[in-house]
Amino acid sequence: DAPTIETDVLVVGAGPAGLTLAALLAAEGVDAITVTRYPGTAHSPRAHITNQRTMEVFRDLGIEDDVRAVATPNELMGNNVWATSFADKEIARLLTWGSGDERRTDYDLASPSAMCNIPQHILEPVLHRAAADRGADLRFSTELVAIGQDDDGVTATVRHRDTGAEQTIRAKYAVGADGGRSTVAEELGFEMDGEMGLGAAVNVWLEADLTAYTAHRPGTLYWMCQPGNDYWVGSGTWICVKPWTEWVMLFMYDPSQGEPDLSEEAVVARARTTIGDPDVPITIKNISKWQINHVVARSYQQGRVFLAGDAAHRHPPANGLGTNTSIQDSFNLGWKLAHVLQGKAGPELLDTYDTERRPVGKQVVDRAMQSVRDMLPISQALGFAPEQTAEDGWRALDELFAPGADGEERRRSLDAAVALQNYQFNCHGVELDQRYASAAVTDDGTPWPAPERDPELYHHPTTHPGARLPHAWLEHDGATVSTLDLVGHGRFTVLTGIGGEPWADAAAKAAADLGVAVDVRVLGHHCEHDDVLARWVTLREIDDTGALLVRPDHHIAWRAPRLADDPAADLTAALRTALRHA
Ligand code: FDA
Repeated sequence: DAPTIETDVLVVGAGPAGLTLAALLAAEGVDAITVTRYPGTAHSPRAHITNQRTMEVFRDLGIEDDVRAVATPNELMGNNVWATSFADKEIARLLTWGSGDERRTDYDLASPSAMCNIPQHILEPVLHRAAADRGADLRFSTELVAIGQDDDGVTATVRHRDTGAEQTIRAKYAVGADGGRSTVAEELGFEMDGEMGLGAAVNVWLEADLTAYTAHRPGTLYWMCQPGNDYWVGSGTWICVKPWTEWVMLFMYDPSQGEPDLSEEAVVARARTTIGDPDVPITIKNISKWQINHVVARSYQQGRVFLAGDAAHRHPPANGLGTNTSIQDSFNLGWKLAHVLQGKAGPELLDTYDTERRPVGKQVVDRAMQSVRDMLPISQALGFAPEQTAEDGWRALDELFAPGADGEERRRSLDAAVALQNYQFNCHGVELDQRYASAAVTDDGTPWPAPERDPELYHHPTTHPGARLPHAWLEHDGATVSTLDLVGHGRFTVLTGIGGEPWADAAAKAAADLGVAVDVRVLGHHCEHDDVLARWVTLREIDDTGALLVRPDHHIAWRAPRLADDPAADLTAALRTALRHA
């Protein structure tokens, strides 16, 4: 028998969640092994919308430019088009993902990083390289078949798919980042709340040059609505994989009516109908089926084992939150595992992963499901109904654009139905405002600022403990840097301003007492980090002499409104809490 392998962390799965975690742990020098069932990274496009918060994680890892180099930029993501086919009548359009005039400033002000469109088969190799470059131990074709734990560790059995040989891995902790059919969750009996199999979908990845129909209205999603189909996604939703020649055509089906005909002939016929131009050559690259689920794990942790990504939360692609939430889970868990394993934090710090991330998972799953339901008003405004003949459907569509009171009323309904889609496509608050309340965050007793605008649609920056550090551009050594560039990279950081210099000594003392590195940055006019635009001063919600203690994941652990009587005592107490230090 092969000898047992010992490691500190076993990561199961090398999708977006597992690869990100592998890279983060490797960057911190943590002894970890990542195993994954398949011989390589994702072989098809799958998820693709990559939001600002995820790009901030990539920026922290130093791979934002690598991702951007192979992604479709935000400028080409904007137009969300509803039409009867590419070549035929356009029904409605919405500018999405912060790219419209009304929302662009909101997005630009909120983050140093722009959203992009990067399909999973292109993103994963970048993440893989980032992990490998940082020294991660990644093992492909290595499947987890059994896992159990005791008080001291986790014991896993993996099978090498090439040889069939089995091997035991003994780890201090394990993370199930093994996707929607998680073996880890199943083996350990993690309970899930919600429902699986709420709908079934097919992804058809294909090549078709649609430049003539898309270059003037560049976008990510094109919804083809033809009568005779009452599903929310209509007859076929086209997702841009590569402008404007590679696509995923997604369509829903009802499994109770039997499985769809997925022969090349049938799929090409559907593609032709939704393109509306018989002369466009079509090459099918891959066909896959997937399910709509709406579940969140009742707990993300059982003893020494954690769930991250789809293993913990499964939801429809609406709002594009699948990979984003998975990557952000890993950003919360990575530094905690590193600090605990390096003896810099108490093991209870790991309990805060569930406390902090599960509410986010629940919110994301519920939002995605609501966004699916919110697409029905579009079908209704178009006059589509179940059991309707195609002829009646086309007539209803003609009436939508006809003169007269009826048409006017229906056009108003359509406009309202399209505006509702902002909750799916410009949902900036949900994308960015993840806030944590846990035993590792020192609440300062102040209320969270009341939102000035709809909290789902709009980002509300705040430095309230538990919030993500707000972004402001600063000048440093002649270069423009974000507040977010001053924090993170696996370390704690204290941010203060003019007259707050005593916090530097306090941070040095706290760091020495607790054996953890704490950086100090001074922000303000003519400071090391010059608030030349006076933007930071409008966001920080503390005086010049106050301080923020920011965690490695950019979230604020504690704040002092002004210089304290005993800065070292206060900061040491806050850091002790943030680390759940004994
Ligand atoms: P992910 O599923 O990506 O990765 C799981 C990893 O675990 C894989 O590396 C796998 O090999 C490994 N693994 C599984 N079992 C294992 C075992 N027993 N032992 C070892 N390794 C194991 N989302 C979205 O927002 N928009 C979309 O359009 C789509 N489309 C889509 C299409 C298809 C076909 C699928 C399958 C999924 C989607 N999704 C999607 C969902 C999206 O892909 C998903 O949210 C993320 O990939 C989740 O990332 P994770 O890293 O959590 O799991």
